[in-house]
Amino acid sequence: MMDATTAEFLKYAAEIREEVNEQLATYATFGDGCPERLEAAIRHSLMAPCKRLRPLLVLSAAETCGSTRRTAMPAACAIEMVHTYSLVHDDLPAMDDDDLRRGLPSCHAAFDEATAILAGDALLTRAFEIIARDQKPTSTAIQCVTELARAAGSCGMVGGQADDLAAEFQAGDVEFLTSIHRRKTGAMLTCCLRLGAISAGGTSAQIESLTTYGGKLGLAFQIVDDLLDITGAEAQIGKKTNQDTEHGKLTFPSILGIEESRQRAEKLIEEAIASLNSFGSRASNLEALAHYVLNRNH
Ligand code: IPE
Ligand code: IPE
Ligand code: MG
Ligand code: MG
Ligand code: MG
Repeated sequence: MMDATTAEFLKYAAEIREEVNEQLATYATFGDGCPERLEAAIRHSLMAPCKRLRPLLVLSAAETCGSTRRTAMPAACAIEMVHTYSLVHDDLPAMDDDDLRRGLPSCHAAFDEATAILAGDALLTRAFEIIARDQKPTSTAIQCVTELARAAGSCGMVGGQADDLAAEFQAGDVEFLTSIHRRKTGAMLTCCLRLGAISAGGTSAQIESLTTYGGKLGLAFQIVDDLLDITGAEAQIGKKTNQDTEHGKLTFPSILGIEESRQRAEKLIEEAIASLNSFGSRASNLEALAHYVLNRNH
């Protein structure tokens, strides 16, 4: 039986998903010069049914800092574009070689490898165009561009992805795996919270608290992703299960087992929620979101 807080959060999340989908559909309309097949590949991956967790984090953070969703919408859409590019490339044969994503054939399977690489490139570059042009004021846009580039780049998401691949069929300890997960997934999730707070003109104390929340949530999120690869159902998660074992990935369950991995995720979620203390009831959506990340089945 679902409690009232969860039901309210799910309604809030669905509302945001709708707003974000509408804005993304506009942002993913390209003018003269964009080949039809490239645009189709971009939209295939970007508009496929999914959680929109990152925009949800950006917009909730903005609201938690006392601003409106509208204010942070360009940053929210830009991060979702960078995230989608990372999925398109993550699924390529040279990387995780997955042919199911968001319940649909992954981009390279539906189109072809070259088109998938280019669709990813286009999503990444479009994201920065959107923030630079639409995020107001310009000083905020510059800060958002800098932070997103850093989170997505070689010391963040891309670096984590490189080490994730290098670690296949290799021995590794929890410390190394934590550093992979913090970069490949955590950096972008933390960036969502920071961009939301920055767009809202949040104080440095607010940005700091949300950064702590994001770091803990981000690691918990990837631990749950590792668990869902084993315990999840393909029809629900929209991707093939048991891929990590097949590819010899270093994951939390591969090192610690299912039970202990789950406990780690639970502890991180508790700590993430505790870091929201200073916001009081204004952080209720971020609190519910943390529970959702832990208990999700997709
Ligand atoms: C999947 O992200 C990739 C990881 C970082 C584990 P999500 O689980 O947020 O996927 P979508 O965006 O809902 O498809
Ligand atoms: C992917 O991690 C993280 C990024 C795309 C940056 P995974 O490889 O575990 O993601 P899934 O399980 O394919 O969604
Ligand atoms: Mg991967
Ligand atoms: Mg993958
Ligand atoms: Mg995974």
